[in-house]
Amino acid sequence: EGSAAFVVAANRLPVDRVQLPDGSTTWRTSPGGLVTALEPVLRKQGGAWIGWTGAADEELAPFEHDGMQLVPIPIHAQEVEEYYEGFSNATLWPLYHDVIATPEFHREWWDSYVAVNRRFAAYAAAIAEPSAVVWIQDYQLQLVPQMLRELRPDLRIGYFLHVPFPPAELFTQLPWRRHILEGLLGADLVGFQTNGAAQNFVRLVRLRVGHKTHRDTIYLEDGRSVVAKAFPISIDSSSFEELARQPETAARALEIRESLGNPKFVLLGVDRLDYTKGMPQRLRAFGELAQEGILDPAEAVFVQVAPPSRERVDQYRRLRDEIDRLVGRINGDVGRIGQPPITYLHSSFPRSEMAALYRAADVMVVTPLRDGMNLVAKEYVACRYEDTGALVLSEFAGAAAELKQAYLVNPYDINGMKATMLKAISDPPKEKTKRMRAMRRQVMEHDVDKWAQNFLEELELIREPHGKRT
Ligand code: G6P
Repeated sequence: EGSAAFVVAANRLPVDRVQLPDGSTTWRTSPGGLVTALEPVLRKQGGAWIGWTGAADEELAPFEHDGMQLVPIPIHAQEVEEYYEGFSNATLWPLYHDVIATPEFHREWWDSYVAVNRRFAAYAAAIAEPSAVVWIQDYQLQLVPQMLRELRPDLRIGYFLHVPFPPAELFTQLPWRRHILEGLLGADLVGFQTNGAAQNFVRLVRLRVGHKTHRDTIYLEDGRSVVAKAFPISIDSSSFEELARQPETAARALEIRESLGNPKFVLLGVDRLDYTKGMPQRLRAFGELAQEGILDPAEAVFVQVAPPSRERVDQYRRLRDEIDRLVGRINGDVGRIGQPPITYLHSSFPRSEMAALYRAADVMVVTPLRDGMNLVAKEYVACRYEDTGALVLSEFAGAAAELKQAYLVNPYDINGMKATMLKAISDPPKEKTKRMRAMRRQVMEHDVDKWAQNFLEELELIREPHGKRT
């Protein structure tokens, strides 16, 4: 038993180790929505964060960072291949995202997933003080709740899934489906992004494990019960707005528009380079509008920021080639000297640069084929404090349940997307302001602090630890 009253366990630490061209290494903020959301929560709340540094075979002592206690977990090179790139990102990721890519099932990958989950459970058990709260995150760690409960029945265990939870018809393909369900049932509270995801889980538990359920509660044989419900995640909204309001951000936004040739309309996409994000569909829609002369490339440009992600996984490599070809084709077809219709940046940028881009963009285009929530959409809304701008948003992002005044699209319907993108560009300012104001109210009120507070309060309520064993 350790001394931390509050412990977060996630595959990644909020910062990861990157290698610079000269061979030296440095820390930078880890990619993705999980870190965007949770980092401010843990920084405010204090506590320990257990996770991986992103480098294989690294043995590193716990260290302090921004008021957080970071506890690195070593992941060996073969585990990076089997647990992380394999089971997490080539089995679970595509399976949980509507099998957009075909999931691969390999028994060695599963064994590695079990081994790494066990290591996370052991670390959490060692660091948590008696009756502490341990909050386990995301699809890479679904077995940890049960493993941890076996080691430390005194703990309060929460689990949150940041990605979609698939319908039973897809989930049941998984040869290890029952182990995963039982792994999650080790938690007292299992959180999802949407009601649909929570319902999928409860139904599966009933069908495949045979537990009695009533609404969001699952009754286990040993008398314990587990609650499964939706807690839509969010961002540190006011800090994004504050960043957007800074004069330097405004100056940088102007500079960006100038570098783009001062077009009338700037459209923006921001996504990890991932096949769930619907980037080819979105670029195709924009490209056709330019090719058909409906949008003049001197007047409307598209900026796509796509930080590299999971580059050693096959499907991601292929997507990169596809995007390279598509951007090259469109720019070659309709570009003029000094005027490419698409600016494509395969890199990541600090928050300040992102805020300037959000300020510079007249239309934000977020078109995932499936997405747990999508926090980029919320970041854009938080930065539009003048209630200007327009958000084009996929119906298949969790965020669509909250941002109902967005210009909603089905990303598989290219004609529909073309029409909606045009509408988002050309609607009267009054209409755009009405929509943006409503979305801003939602995002500013429901920030990530509220999200964490709701989850942790619910966790408190569910279970008084049995006799406070110490
Ligand atoms: C998504 C997942 C996170 C993950 C992030 C970045 O947001 O839900 O768990 O950390 O993508 O992906 P990576 O594989 O680089 O950690």
